[in-house]
Amino acid sequence: MCGVTQTWQVEPSGPLRGDITVRGSKNAVTKHMVAAMLGHGPSVIRNAPEVGDVDITAAMLESVGFHVGRDGSEITITPGDEVRPKVPEAFTGLNRIPILMLGPLLHRAGEAFVPLVGGDPIGRRPVDFHVEALTALGAEIEHGPTGITAKATRLRGARITLPYPSVGATETVLLSAVLADGKTVLRNAATEPEVVELALFLQRMGAKIELSPDRRIIIEGVEKLKGASTRLAGDRLEAFSYLVAGLITGGEVRVHGCPQDRLVTAITTLARMGAQFDITDEWITASAPGGLRSAAVHTDTHPGFMTDWQQPLMVLFTQAEGMSVLHETVFENRLVYVPALQKMGCEIEVFSACLGGPACRFHDGNSAHSAVIRGVSKLQGAEVTLPDVRAGFSAVLAAAVAENPSTLHGVHHIERGYHRPYEQFASLGLRLTRGA
Ligand code: EPU
Repeated sequence: MCGVTQTWQVEPSGPLRGDITVRGSKNAVTKHMVAAMLGHGPSVIRNAPEVGDVDITAAMLESVGFHVGRDGSEITITPGDEVRPKVPEAFTGLNRIPILMLGPLLHRAGEAFVPLVGGDPIGRRPVDFHVEALTALGAEIEHGPTGITAKATRLRGARITLPYPSVGATETVLLSAVLADGKTVLRNAATEPEVVELALFLQRMGAKIELSPDRRIIIEGVEKLKGASTRLAGDRLEAFSYLVAGLITGGEVRVHGCPQDRLVTAITTLARMGAQFDITDEWITASAPGGLRSAAVHTDTHPGFMTDWQQPLMVLFTQAEGMSVLHETVFENRLVYVPALQKMGCEIEVFSACLGGPACRFHDGNSAHSAVIRGVSKLQGAEVTLPDVRAGFSAVLAAAVAENPSTLHGVHHIERGYHRPYEQFASLGLRLTRGA
């Protein structure tokens, strides 16, 4: 499925309309799969999306001795007789998941090797918080040229404060501390819905986890965890992306399967720009019969405007009346996709200063992390190469409102993170064909 076809030809096709059902999120399903490594007995994850990252994570789990069964949207993970503690180097750079496997492998085998992690080219994306947290929990860590080696006969609880509320590092602590000896107190933890969802799954497996106010998570280590079963909640990134697909083309997309509370800031932001919403317990729909106006938005940790929403919003800004400002405060390089949009006629200028919101961690660096966007821009079809998953989706949005067809290379990036995007876009009326 993923990576087989690299190019789409996209023809502007007028307003996109229809119904989309989102599945569980890429950024929850893969973490649940890693959590399942901790259980004695099978775990079942339902409502899983068909995304490339699931294929990669399944192959990694199988390479260390777990059986991964797939049946439509259901994934069953069963521990094998023996856990092999080395994730093969063939998985180098494919996604961010190997670093999360360190804790579970240490619990199962007392040692671990994981290859260097990848993920989208959106900033330095270091793993220092993960490594420092594991070291605090008693692991001996060595960095090698091809990856990270860790050893620990038994992890022990610790007090850990993250320098920034990192999603991945919080997950590393959860996945490691649940079976450690004694209590772990994690301060400045991430509270993204996907993190809470993982904590709830671990609780179902028998973990003792307390979510306290002020970004504190307290974990009382237990001796053993069992397998568990869960149904993932809908992907808020995907839901937002398709709502914007409707708005930007002057159409209306009804998104099913994503709870409203996961989209509260997104809805408020789009409503401020002039979008009108209908919201029920089953679906959310947005339209903008009176057009859209500009806004100033800065990305933030949950419950702020999430960094994965900014790429569709950036394209939407080009179709809203007036000058908009976007300030990315989570990843320093997350505007690297702007040249692809500029090539399609988007009038976007990037700055290293903090614009449109309070100064952020990147205020004295050189990374272009703020943008000023002029709307309404006439977009032109172009031949562009997609740099990452969210930016990839945005290029499709730009192509959908351009004046002539576009050729988009690197479509596997979109397929790594969105459930069947080709079929979903086609069902909304976008004319697209797969190229070589
Ligand atoms: N950071 C460090 N050191 C670390 C870890 C993080 O400096 O050891 C910094 C990062 O460089 C960044 C900030 O902390 O500036 C936040 O990074 P975080 O760890 O929260 O991000 P992540 O866990 O690597 C996940 C999602 C991202 C999503 C972010 C923020 C996965 C696989 N990825 O990344 O999703 O944008 O949280 O919510 O869960 C995507 O789906 O396209 C995507 C990039």
